[in-house]
Amino acid sequence: MKVDPNMDPVDFWQQHYEKASPETSGRPSAGLERFVKDRAPGTALELGCGKGDDAVWLVKQGWTVAAIDLSETALDYAQANAARNGVADKITFAAHDLMTGFPDGKFDLITAQFLESPVVFERDAILHMAANRVLPGGMLLIASHGSVPSWSWDYPDKVYPTPQEAFDNLNLDASDWNRVCVDNIDRMATGPKGEKGTVTDTVIALERKA
Ligand SMILES: C[S@@+](CC[C@H](N)C(=O)[O-])C[C@H]1O[C@@H](n2cnc3c(N)ncnc32)[C@H](O)[C@@H]1O
Repeated sequence: MKVDPNMDPVDFWQQHYEKASPETSGRPSAGLERFVKDRAPGTALELGCGKGDDAVWLVKQGWTVAAIDLSETALDYAQANAARNGVADKITFAAHDLMTGFPDGKFDLITAQFLESPVVFERDAILHMAANRVLPGGMLLIASHGSVPSWSWDYPDKVYPTPQEAFDNLNLDASDWNRVCVDNIDRMATGPKGEKGTVTDTVIALERKA
């Protein structure tokens, strides 16, 4: 699927979610289960929450969750998801465009799972800002695509940054952080129409030194 990279981001993501089913997998991102499950809960900010499965999971693990997204339709689906799970009053969902600034506050966890966009998006600068909002002892957890599944909008021959390049692109002072994971991790995934395939995630899990 070819996307016009100059398309307005709000229009792109609205159309994306309007065409999508409100149904969700009901499962959290693999990175959360792997790197957050055993952490003491605190305050969490989710960037680009989509249909809300991660926010729901986090709140059920005891986290106080704020979750933002650009798309009002995604947020409607996420609110409905939270309501189905009986946690609607425990998650603060908000429409927010990260290109216009960063949400207020500092957090014990900032999670950005596949916060990626084929239209205008200053991803590395946004994730650099996110790192500045992680409290001492807290975690920045980022997952991005490291391969092209058949159902993706990306081009099949796309070259992805290595994990180290993805880390370097964040432009952080490495001495401030414990590297919990800077690696590619494979997993079985299901596409929007039920397609199955192995995908590679580039996972960056950093803990800010206390
Ligand atoms: C690839 S989706 C990932 C959604 C979800 N985290 C997941 O893993 O399924 C990227 C998400 O980022 C959101 N997004 C894109 N640009 C954004 C922006 N400028 N500000 C806030 N959210 C944005 C989109 O609306 C979309 O929900």
